[in-house]
Amino acid sequence: MSIQTDKIQELVERRAQARLGGGEKRIEAQHQKGKLTARERLALLLDEGSFEEFDQFVQHRCTNFGMDKTHVDGDGVVTGQGTIDGRLVYVFAQDFTVNGGSLSKTMSEKICKVMDMAARNGAPCIGLNDSGGARIQEGIDALAGYGEIFERNILSSGVVPQISGIFGPCAGGAVYSPALTDFTVMVQDTSYMFLTGPAVVKQVTGEEVSQEELGGAAVHSSKSGVAHFAAADDKEGIQTIKELLSYLPQNNMQSAPVKPTADPAGRADDALNDIIPDNPNKAYDMYGVIGSIVDDGKFFEVHKNFAKNIIVGFAHMNGQSVGIVANQPNVLAGVLDINASRKAARFVRFCDAFNIPLVTLVDVPGFLCGTQQEYGAIITNGAKLLYAYGEATVPKVTVTLRKSYGGAHIVMSCKQLRGDINYAWPTASIAVMGAEGAVDVLFKDAGEEREQKINEYNDLFSNPYRAAEKGYIEDVIEPRNTRFRVIRALETLKGKRQDVPAKKHDNLPL
Ligand code: HXC
Repeated sequence: MSIQTDKIQELVERRAQARLGGGEKRIEAQHQKGKLTARERLALLLDEGSFEEFDQFVQHRCTNFGMDKTHVDGDGVVTGQGTIDGRLVYVFAQDFTVNGGSLSKTMSEKICKVMDMAARNGAPCIGLNDSGGARIQEGIDALAGYGEIFERNILSSGVVPQISGIFGPCAGGAVYSPALTDFTVMVQDTSYMFLTGPAVVKQVTGEEVSQEELGGAAVHSSKSGVAHFAAADDKEGIQTIKELLSYLPQNNMQSAPVKPTADPAGRADDALNDIIPDNPNKAYDMYGVIGSIVDDGKFFEVHKNFAKNIIVGFAHMNGQSVGIVANQPNVLAGVLDINASRKAARFVRFCDAFNIPLVTLVDVPGFLCGTQQEYGAIITNGAKLLYAYGEATVPKVTVTLRKSYGGAHIVMSCKQLRGDINYAWPTASIAVMGAEGAVDVLFKDAGEEREQKINEYNDLFSNPYRAAEKGYIEDVIEPRNTRFRVIRALETLKGKRQDVPAKKHDNLPL
């Protein structure tokens, strides 16, 4: 054998060794837990044959606690570039089989390298987390590594999409990297996120709680809103990330890819003419309206189980990617509360940052009142959504289906917040408040005349025409034509240009 052949053989063997990570026993343990390995996840995520790995031979530099005798090529994270549906992405996947995927300084350097490349080359960065947190043997160096990652998350925010998959433990300060990214996908039963685990919680507060109850996928996707998606397993989690990406542009200078459709732009739906119940207090399902107007009825929902009184997610309309925001009359009458405001505000800001037009469907009775909401700062949180819509410069098309009352009317992408095209159905009621509430304020002693006053108020205000007469909406449209009207509006807004005044940055009510 020539020297060259020997050297090539050495490379092949070293690569094979690196690919084994922490070894077969630990890979088996990973599988036993129902989890895939870092490399298996990347294989599912990326187009076949597209992955180019970087820094496969990087080793940690720690010498504490005998670490100088334990080196694994790659040091517990697989990083590199590849494509998803032919589009470039940068990836890192922590390998739990190597020191529990714990973060060393060198691991952070590998992660930062791909984050920098993603920002520089204008491509999404996807992190698959599965880690015991800061590598304890490294002490402050590991912490510094987290700091480096966080800073890059912040600088890349609004520049390239950043997506976090939580496919195992994610604890301590490590949770703040996913929290800084745009979307977080968790996996049920095998992933968790919390600042401190159950043992410390018990020590500090006396509270007894399981890992799942404290920071599992169900909790974070429904109660806290930390996770946008909860997948049944690793495979579904990866699929979710791929599908999400299909609605997003590569970076903030580009538009999302167009998805050709056979669904006619002019398709009318007679069912929409009957969807609003006669009784204004009766609910109906907003998903029916969304499904009717988007291409092929396909809606990719974000935060499905969190603050269900508002619906947010992506769809295509005549092939163009749009962000849909819609009140859900079926849940709490579609009222805006703290969580609904936070959820929608973050989504609106994401769409605005990445040139995705907003389609808003309004049926909102107002903001939720009461001490719980006031003490929780519904004022500040409601202002987030107001702010998000008001600052957004992407095309904004709004359709009011039924109620649009008071402050909530303003917040939900009204004309004065620089709404581009605002339509209303004939069933819309755009007013300061509903008839009963208004009469009870204005005519406290109405007695037997209350009913008559309510009718008077309804005749006067419970329609879209007061707003239409003043030019606060562009048109009153037949519900069956909503898809066509929204698509036509979006087409006309493709060349939209709008600025915000020069400033260092805004002071969003956080
Ligand atoms: C070094 C670690 C490690 C860590 C796990 N390992 N976490 N090594 N640093 N942080 C190692 C284990 O020693 C073990 O090595 C292997 O990884 C697998 O771990 P197990 O404990 O056997 O696995 P499991 O039973 O599944 O438990 C996983 C775990 C547990 C729940 C994550 O390992 C754990 O509690 N780890 C410590 C978590 C933690 O407190 N991290 C620091 C958080 S503070 P061997 O060789 O035995 O297989 C933090 C600050 C960040 O991260 C601040 C940012 C600003």
